[in-house]
Amino acid sequence: MNNDRFRLVSLAAATLGSLLAATVSGQVPAGGPVTGNVERGRTLYADTYNCDACHGFDAQSGERRLVPLNYTQDGFITFVQNSPLPNMPAFPDASAQVLADIYAYIKTIPADAPALDQVPLLKDIRERKARAAAE
Ligand code: HEC
Repeated sequence: MNNDRFRLVSLAAATLGSLLAATVSGQVPAGGPVTGNVERGRTLYADTYNCDACHGFDAQSGERRLVPLNYTQDGFITFVQNSPLPNMPAFPDASAQVLADIYAYIKTIPADAPALDQVPLLKDIRERKARAAAE
């Protein structure tokens, strides 16, 4: 992705984030989809569930990077509750409301750097490291 496109995507993610932040009111319509609360999400992400220990305080300086987040809210909730990935713990006890809050919070974080594999030098270093490890 070139820089302009990256900026556009970041902008779109940031705009989406602010839109979400502006619309979350903590009101959950009966029987409707769960609505996330950004402030609660921040605390849940960093203090209660310690997602930041692996994903970074900004959800993009850790491994793996979560911003920009390419999940729907439902997809995110299902994934985090049932993660099949070996290095990502599943959180079966985290409720849909808890994960909607965390989702809303992550969505407000603007992407501040390109993904590793979008920086040619870093990509090259990672590929050489992987090749060396495979030898
Ligand atoms: C022990 C470290 C650790 C903790 C704690 C952790 N994660 Fe992860 N998470 C990972 C790793 C590593 C991956 C990538 C796994 C892989 O690809 O094999 C990942 C992947 C993810 C993904 C998928 C990202 C993608 O690109 O598809 C999401 C979403 C996610 N984590 C959310 C969370 C949330 C929300 C929390 C807190 C409730 C959390 N994680 C806690 C390590 C962690």
